[in-house]
Amino acid sequence: MRYESQKIAQNFYTFAVLLFLVQVLVGIIAALQFIWPDFFPLKFNIIRDLHINALVVWLLMGLMGATYYVVPEESQSELWSIPLAKFQFWATVVAVTAVVLGYIWMGFDPQANKFIAGTLLLNEGREYIEAPRWADWLIALSVILFLLNNFMTMYKSKRWTGIQGTLLGGLTFLALMYLPGMFYSKSMVKDQYWWWWVIHLWVEGAWEVIAGALLAFMLMKVTNVERHVVERWMYIEVALVLFTGILGTGHHYYWIGTPRYWLWVGGIFSALEPIPLLVMVWDAFRTTRTHRVVSNRLGLFYATSHAIFNFVGAGLWGVIHTLPQVNKWTHGTQITTAHGHLAFYGAYVLLVMSMIYITLPLIRGAENFNTSRGYRSFWWMTISMIFIVLTLTGAGMVQTYMERLVGLDYVTVKANYNLWFWIFRAIFGLGFLYGVTLFVIDFFKLGREPVEAVATEPSETTV
Ligand code: HEM
Ligand code: HEM
Ligand SMILES: [Fe+2]
Repeated sequence: MRYESQKIAQNFYTFAVLLFLVQVLVGIIAALQFIWPDFFPLKFNIIRDLHINALVVWLLMGLMGATYYVVPEESQSELWSIPLAKFQFWATVVAVTAVVLGYIWMGFDPQANKFIAGTLLLNEGREYIEAPRWADWLIALSVILFLLNNFMTMYKSKRWTGIQGTLLGGLTFLALMYLPGMFYSKSMVKDQYWWWWVIHLWVEGAWEVIAGALLAFMLMKVTNVERHVVERWMYIEVALVLFTGILGTGHHYYWIGTPRYWLWVGGIFSALEPIPLLVMVWDAFRTTRTHRVVSNRLGLFYATSHAIFNFVGAGLWGVIHTLPQVNKWTHGTQITTAHGHLAFYGAYVLLVMSMIYITLPLIRGAENFNTSRGYRSFWWMTISMIFIVLTLTGAGMVQTYMERLVGLDYVTVKANYNLWFWIFRAIFGLGFLYGVTLFVIDFFKLGREPVEAVATEPSETTV
């Protein structure tokens, strides 16, 4: 680590990692509620909110931490203002905690979610971004301070690199796309129309741009690949992400009351979305093959796995149900949930984890650290996730058949499901929880425990 201010990344990582644990713990509760609906004092709706909101928030915190590491390094200067970064961190922690307490309160007393000045006090009810309006403003403020700090760092140093330019471009896009989720419309169609701008243009637009920039940074950091090579590929990836992803939004507009042309636009553009993700896989493999001096093998392992599972979870599990001809059968079933899990895991959970494994050892001054827990955690999480996703895909096929072909209604199908799907999901969920626990322990111990005999020189490898 070259700059003192890069340490601030650690605060964000710590909060992210703890929320990750919370997310998965409540995920297990949600899974058990499919088997025993009444086993927990908080009902499924609240548990589900906690699960998916915690997911979004910890990923954002992780990406912010990563940015605070990358920007000083790329600008070759200290951060514009460390106190501002610290303030932004603590303000976010307080706001997020307040929102979580609000959800729990609402779980015990649904009437507490009152209308005040035209907005709801505790929960706005738009999936993934349920936070109430007052929290939206605090989040927006936090993001503005975050962007300002990073832009000023870049501006003052006058060193504009492609990587940090793309990273901050992606983050600005991300911040702007939060806005369409902040106003109400009486029409459900319009409400959903704008809501997808946030959800879709985040994960298939802004966040993928950020992933492209971070992948370039990571490859450069752990191998001796030249900057101009990774940056060239990054531009190609990002251009393709935007070209396919923006109009790809149409794959959410098939059946919600929007004009018919979206069937064509959404089908064609979203079917092309896996291409940039495949280029990223190729980018990671090409770099690893041709540049064999690797300083952090575990970091490179995670970064490459991120590229692969981004392609499999988002690309493949996305493309199978993206054409309107298929989606009219599978829309809103467990097939969607299977894709949601693998896509978020591959694209963003592994992205934040790889950034942590690449930057945290440097922050802690522990270039040589024990990597065995990191690998074990990876395999527990990944194998469990693959089985969760296969189970959900199977459940989704049965659901599609019973609901859409046989014509049974939603509740009848739900009541007659084979319970084994949910039992398997819960068991693999526990496997996943074990992997996360290993990771959290590793996060806190990394660089703080004696290192076994590990090579001190960068090693030759063919990972
Ligand atoms: C990293 C990127 C991605 C993430 C994190 C992601 C995540 C998700 C999630 C969570 C949903 C469910 C939304 C809901 O609650 O209704 C969803 C829906 C969907 N995704 Fe993705 N996705 C990604 C990329 C893709 C790609 C590249 C494609 C296509 C090639 C795709 C195709 C779809 C489709 C068609 C739906 C709608 C399913 C339905 O009709 O129920 N996704 N995605
Ligand atoms: C990093 C790991 C995980 C990620 C990224 C993740 C992501 C998600 C997402 C995006 C959704 C909304 C999906 C949709 O509506 O289509 C969801 C719902 C859910 N997740 Fe997870 N999750 C993870 C781990 C887990 C684990 C370990 C369990 C427990 C077995 C779990 C159980 C559930 C349940 C029960 C739901 C509700 C599904 C429904 O409404 O049908 N998740 N998760
Ligand atoms: Fe989408």
